[in-house]
Parts: sequence; C-alpha cells; structure tokens
Amino acid sequence: MNLDLWEDAKIDKFVESLLVRGYSNYNIPEEIPKKIVSSLQKSKSIKDAAKDFYSIPEIKNENSSFWKGRKKYSSGKARYHEEMKFIGNLNDKKVLEIGCGSGNLAYLISKKYKIKKYIATDLSPPGKEIDNVEFLKQGNKTEIPVEDSSVDSILIMDMLHHVNKNQQRYLIKNAKNKLNENGKIVFFEYTFSEEKEPLYRSYFTEKFNELSKKQKFGCMEIIDYIGNILVNKSETPMPNSYRTMEEWEDFFKKLELKINNSEYIGFPKRLFHQGPYGIINLSL
Ligand SMILES: C[S@@+](CC[C@H](N)C(=O)[O-])C[C@H]1O[C@@H](n2cnc3c(N)ncnc32)[C@H](O)[C@@H]1O
Repeated sequence: MNLDLWEDAKIDKFVESLLVRGYSNYNIPEEIPKKIVSSLQKSKSIKDAAKDFYSIPEIKNENSSFWKGRKKYSSGKARYHEEMKFIGNLNDKKVLEIGCGSGNLAYLISKKYKIKKYIATDLSPPGKEIDNVEFLKQGNKTEIPVEDSSVDSILIMDMLHHVNKNQQRYLIKNAKNKLNENGKIVFFEYTFSEEKEPLYRSYFTEKFNELSKKQKFGCMEIIDYIGNILVNKSETPMPNSYRTMEEWEDFFKKLELKINNSEYIGFPKRLFHQGPYGIINLSL
C-alpha cells in the first residue's frame, strides 16, 4: 500500500467515516476506527504500519469490542445474503467458484440450491469442509484445475483485484474455457462506475462521487489493505489492479465475452461490504 495516500485529507475523511459506519453495525465504537486511521497516518513506512496498528490498545486486546465485532462481520451474514440476491437460480447447475476464500458463499449457495456440483478453487485451502462442495487448490494464479466446457455457472467474487492486470486476462480466458455452451459468469467486484447511476443512492455513494478517480481508487486501496492485510493478516496478493465498471466491461469484451447485464450497486444502505460494488453478468 502506498502510505502517501494518507496525505490527502479527503481520502482520510472518507475512509474514516466509512469505517465508523461499517463497524457501528457490529457495535464497534467509533473511537476505534478513528484510532486506526490516525495510526496509519502517523506510520512512517509500510513496515511500521502493521506494528503501529497492533499497538492500538483495542487492537492489542483480543477480547475487545473490535475483535468481537469483526468476528460477526467475518461470518459474512449480512454481506453474502445481500450478494446472493444478485445470483440467479442455481438448482441443477454445475457451479465453479474461483477464489472462494473461506467458502462463505459456497456454504450459503449449497444450502439454498440443489446444486448438481459445486467446485470451489483458491490459491490456498479453505480451512474447513462443506457438504457437497469440492475444494480444489489451484497450482498457480491463472490455471483452474477443472475440465474444459464442463460448468454451467462460474462465480467470481471480490477476487480479481487481487490478480495483476496481465494475469487477470489469462485467468478469465481459462475460466471462459470451462463454461459449457450456455454457461454464464457472475462477476462481483469492488469497483465504481463513471457513467452509471448506482442501484443504492446512499450517503456514501454521494460522498464518494465527489472524489476524483484517483482518490476513489485510493480509498479502495486503503480499505482493502486494512481489511485483508492488517485485520485478517491475509497473505493474499494486493496488486491494486482495480478497474472502473466501464474498464471491466471493455476488459470482458476484448476477451469476447457477452455482457448480459452490468449493474453498479454503489454503497448499499444496509452495509454488506466496506466499499463500492458492481456486478456483471456474462456469457459466451
Ligand atoms: C478478498 S478474498 C475473497 C474471497 C471470496 N471470494 C469472498 O468473497 O469471500 C480474495 C480471495 O482471492 C484469492 N485469490 C487471489 N488471487 C487468486 C488467483 N489468482 N486465483 C484464485 N484465487 C485467488 C485469495 O486467496 C482470496 O481467498
């Protein structure tokens, strides 16, 4: 992460108010996100940032309201239930989820639908078993260990910004080969539109719109860094290869995928994600 971003007061203010609101849903008092933002502003280097973060008393204390609230947030209830609304009926489908993380979406989908088969891949193992879900560890960042032309639906959620821009192309080309003739891809990403109206006209969508494109990507980078690297201590790559919705649409068109629907969700009123979101439905 680029610590220079903190020199922009508009970015700091936006990130702080978003964290205050997001965490308040999990009963985390507002002084904690305020302390997190101020700690990062003072960090001299990226190496110091984690040390400074874990020196905040409420972060150091494993039993604090911060960690209790985070546990509730990570169980993903609000977030994934909301996202499920945008995924069509998956009964009798063979589903492939790429970059499944800890398997929260796989769990909910396999409970809700009578899936024919659910294969979930990631670079690292999921750490838990789920009935009717087959987890496969990818051998590398772009290849998917699944037979070609064999799946009905591919789900990619909150993952592609963790892949560098060149590898994104190879990964999606390979994913496309896994689809059968009528197959579909549902793509969720942490993104914003420069043209579309957001589905949810929330306070945060309005405030975010007042920022420049560079500031918007800066906010996304910081929020993602705090969540993935500082809080979750994840080793997921962070190449910051964010794109706007229009840039994603161009990216998919160049790979000869058809865009059936592209929706800018924005910042939902009932928070399910700490950032602006979009969804694109694709087919061959
Ligand atoms: C922010 S997490 C999202 C996890 C899950 N999709 C979700 O929404 O809960 C990003 C995930 O993408 C995975 N990932 C990163 N690069 C990947 C790649 N090239 N191929 C597959 N998974 C990848 C990471 O290991 C991590 O589990």
